[in-house]
Amino acid sequence: MIPMVDLKRQFNDIKDEICAVITEVLESSQYILGPKVVELEKQIAAYHGVRDAVGVASGTDALHLAVEALGIGEGDEVITTPFTFFATAEAIMYTGATPVFVDIEPDTMNIDPIEIEKKITERTRAIMPVHIFGHPADMDRIGSLAKKYDLKVIEDCAQSFGAEFNGKKTGSFGDAGCFSFYPSKNLGAYGDGGMILLDDSAVTADIRKLRNHGSRGMYRHECVGFNSRLDEIQAAILLVKFRRIDAYNDLRRQKAALYNELLTGDIELPVERPGCRHVYHQYTIRTDNREKVQKVLQENGASSVVYYPVPVHLQEAVSILGYKKGDLPVAEAAAEKVLSLPVYPELEESSIREIAEIINHA
Ligand SMILES: Cc1ncc(COP(=O)(O)O)c(C=O)c1O
Repeated sequence: MIPMVDLKRQFNDIKDEICAVITEVLESSQYILGPKVVELEKQIAAYHGVRDAVGVASGTDALHLAVEALGIGEGDEVITTPFTFFATAEAIMYTGATPVFVDIEPDTMNIDPIEIEKKITERTRAIMPVHIFGHPADMDRIGSLAKKYDLKVIEDCAQSFGAEFNGKKTGSFGDAGCFSFYPSKNLGAYGDGGMILLDDSAVTADIRKLRNHGSRGMYRHECVGFNSRLDEIQAAILLVKFRRIDAYNDLRRQKAALYNELLTGDIELPVERPGCRHVYHQYTIRTDNREKVQKVLQENGASSVVYYPVPVHLQEAVSILGYKKGDLPVAEAAAEKVLSLPVYPELEESSIREIAEIINHA
């Protein structure tokens, strides 16, 4: 079976380095907030050209702590996309704030700035774009809206490590850039992890406190916080993989280009808008015959996954918000047609040819 992602293969390629750094951490006996976390924060902040980075326990926590530290909560609204992983909305709701879902652009499947402006009220405090599948949202227009209406911008970069919009990396536009190091992400740990990029040292200080029980250390607690620290072992692993991230993303882009070249017929291919660098966390096609295509792929030994079959505004968990089918038609149509194909740095060219042939045939 051609898998969606082959983490074992990648591990085998870098096994010696990984095992060496894990041993180093184990022997150091500094398992929580040690030098590897500090070094990773430094390197990732520099890579993005931002002042600070704070390692946390997951991408979900990165979003949650960012919303919290920016002073958003009960009674506030945060405008976001319904076409995302559920955690985007959860993070807003943890704080007591209300997610306001607006429809997406038909080509990129990212939040549509025209729709954002229609939903701004006096309770709106922030916009949370998601760079879905690794394609940047329109940060020019989102930035202009934020400026015009005095809103915060919290970027969900869980799927977009290394992606660029007009030459600038995602995560460096907003008040906070939130990353996930979930194992299958473009930069993935061997467990959970996340990071928040920041350019305001006061917010950075708050987030450092929030991730560590509201404390700056030595058992003095200035606020009620969380236990949300990036593990030292995960940071050590991420430092090894971070050295390769640009090469990994280049390889993903090559795989996507080959799919683009080979896939024909009545399917919609992922777009890459001018000025954007897509990092293909997912290579996602759209087809009216999804069920058939998926079945034929399965029968012929190739994986495929529907990300996401139900847009967030129609999830049972948020039924209290009162959305109904038809409210956000572009996102709903996408959810019915999307199909993600295997894409990862180590994916063989022959596998892509095989998959393309199966789909073209179907
Ligand atoms: C768009 C998006 N947001 C948030 C998350 C949450 O990240 P994590 O699983 O690290 O909590 C994910 C991935 O899992 C994601 O894809």
